Amino acid sequence: MRPIVIMKAAMTLDGQLAAADGTSQWISTPEARRDGHGLRAQVDAVMVGAGTVRADDPRLTVRLAPDGSRDVKQPVPVIVAGRGGLPPETQLFRRDPVLISPTGLDLPGRVIIAPDSSGERVDLTVGLSELYATGIRRVLVEGGARLFRSLLDAGLADRAVLYYGPVLAGGVGAPMFGGRWETLADGRSVQIGAVSRLGRSIRLDIDLAR
Ligand SMILES: NC(=O)c1ccc[n+]([C@@H]2O[C@H](COP(=O)([O-])OP(=O)(O)OC[C@H]3O[C@@H](n4cnc5c(N)ncnc54)[C@H](OP(=O)(O)O)[C@@H]3O)[C@@H](O)[C@H]2O)c1
Repeated sequence: MRPIVIMKAAMTLDGQLAAADGTSQWISTPEARRDGHGLRAQVDAVMVGAGTVRADDPRLTVRLAPDGSRDVKQPVPVIVAGRGGLPPETQLFRRDPVLISPTGLDLPGRVIIAPDSSGERVDLTVGLSELYATGIRRVLVEGGARLFRSLLDAGLADRAVLYYGPVLAGGVGAPMFGGRWETLADGRSVQIGAVSRLGRSIRLDIDLAR
């Protein structure tokens, strides 16, 4: 058993999560960010990859609940880590995160050890089922591109909420999914759900379940 996995990303209208230098704050507009905080309020855990932690040092808290409420249950922060290390000043370390790693880590938080066959990366199927065993039923994954790609390839993503900000990148920085798209047949067919306008941004809901 594993939790429901919802991918959330903010991107340019031409599908870039970040520029080539790693900058991405802020592609989305305040209305979209507020809506995204509302998504955090609906899940048990918010997950990011170590690359996102190193680039953005996010807090992953609900700070802008759409109803303005301050009395919100905060989701458990989860970091999918590899062997690249994380700086000791990482903000999430103050929030008692869960770290899913291929190896033991001497870092603040609870570590789930879940190596893949290479021993270098996390086996996400195992990591997610371990989260489920702790009572986590819904996980919001907030990037980055490599983690999104791994979840997609492993068939572990159920839904996606995509926020398109009013920006055209005009070139390749970091597309939503890492790696290459080799041939048309490798594309995934998905169900397009709700499309809504949030101020100057667009929210698109996608169902990936087969
Ligand atoms: N616009 C948005 O919504 C948004 C959201 C989030 C991030 N971003 C941007 O995305 C960039 C970071 O993305 P990223 O692709 O470089 O990194 P990432 O996906 O956040 O993290 C990838 C890292 O996770 C670890 N990992 C362990 N097992 C893994 C597995 N099975 N699959 C994938 N990763 C695994 C590895 O850590 P080690 O390196 O330690 O081995 C790997 O390098 C930043 O520029 C950030 O600003 C944008």
